[in-house]
Amino acid sequence: MKQLFRTRTQGHEAYANSGLKRCLSAFDLTLLGIGAIIGTGIFVLTGIAAATQSGPAVVLSFVIAGVACAFAALAYAELAASLGGCGSAYGYSYSAFGEFIAFLIGWNLLLEYGMSVAAVANGWAGYFGNALQAIGLALPKALTTQPSNGGIVNLPAMLVILLLMGLLIAGVKESARLNAIMVAIKLITIVVFLVAACGNVDPANWSPFMPFGWFTRGEDGHTVGVLAGASMVFFAYIGFDAVTTAAEEAKNPQRDLPIGILGSLVFCTVIYIAVAGVLTGVVSYTKLNVASPVAQALLELGHRWASGMVAAGVIAGLLTVMLVLYYGLTRIIFAMSRDGMLPALFSRVNEKTQTPVTTIVFVGVLCALFAGFIPLGKLAELVNIGTLFAFVMVCLGVVVLRHTQPNLPRPFKTPWSPLVPLLGAASCTALMAFLPLDTWVRFVVWLALGVAFYFLYSMKHSALALESPAA
Ligand code: ALA
Repeated sequence: MKQLFRTRTQGHEAYANSGLKRCLSAFDLTLLGIGAIIGTGIFVLTGIAAATQSGPAVVLSFVIAGVACAFAALAYAELAASLGGCGSAYGYSYSAFGEFIAFLIGWNLLLEYGMSVAAVANGWAGYFGNALQAIGLALPKALTTQPSNGGIVNLPAMLVILLLMGLLIAGVKESARLNAIMVAIKLITIVVFLVAACGNVDPANWSPFMPFGWFTRGEDGHTVGVLAGASMVFFAYIGFDAVTTAAEEAKNPQRDLPIGILGSLVFCTVIYIAVAGVLTGVVSYTKLNVASPVAQALLELGHRWASGMVAAGVIAGLLTVMLVLYYGLTRIIFAMSRDGMLPALFSRVNEKTQTPVTTIVFVGVLCALFAGFIPLGKLAELVNIGTLFAFVMVCLGVVVLRHTQPNLPRPFKTPWSPLVPLLGAASCTALMAFLPLDTWVRFVVWLALGVAFYFLYSMKHSALALESPAA
């Protein structure tokens, strides 16, 4: 029993020689965050949430989800700055709660990151397919659609992941550079949308403001209302936690990680509120349940050129989301493997490229298969529930560690602890509660698989157990 709760003392020094290259600055980290955050959430889910859950009050949904994320981000910043390590929430909970809970959190992060990469690849392939069609190069439906939707495989979704795989193998600095260019394109896209559309805002479109009320759960477990919308658009904020997975490649993690996490989150929140407000102001929310609501709205307003530019920008934007999430996933696997929670071959670093090539290839092939053969619509909510669970644990981790390790150097401190972390845990738990019932069922099944894996494999191979068998 004691073994399940053995904790590991983590610190930046412990990973000074991990073999990974320290080359990322605070600016790189902020861009990494923005690269991961702005994506499918704002460009696609805003429309779906407005049309089916929140109405024009989707702006409020963004504010509510943003506040929950801000609490969690403060907790993340404290743990990332004081504990370090590239395992993100997994690594922190190893110190705070012990091995078993940490494993379960890592297990959830695998689901969150892996499914997000595959889901965003599908969204990307949709936009890419439309763009090809616009220039007369349409691909056969069989090669752009999953079997359950009448096709054979979604080939563009698979290929884009394999392309990113090559980039990550080449090395993280190269990837960060590409990320910076893509982030710039993404921000220009948003500015184009805001400038083109803001003149057409008609306040009449904001009424009724809350057509679905705050929250209702139907008999089938389905949920609607502004709060349900918040738990859906939460997806739009996922990614700021990916900044923490780069801790071992940051030049000055204690100072730069909090800047990267909080900077990217605040920046994105402001942008989301602006885009959601303008989008629901220019067309009726009832028309927004489409695959590309932002480009579609501009088309309806007659701004053809701006619509084309936005579509092109989204294609670039979704690339960065996948890149950063994919990168984060490989680093979490790396950390879990180093601790013996996953097989050792996943923490091998290639001497020439200084990157964990085996893990990158394994993850790339697996995500590409998911993206190619499984339709992932519902899985966005599954991604959210797993992430929210990890956020709750990170918030509680701050409170626990302040108690168990009061003297740990904390270059960044969450203000008003324990109030703020507890508010973070409560608000993320509430967002979980607003998710549909079937999402909860899938989440429990995944957790059960994790528990089985832990007892059959990880418990026996734990590096901590091998170091000090009596612990
Ligand atoms: N936040 C990321 C997105 O919206 C996952 O695509």
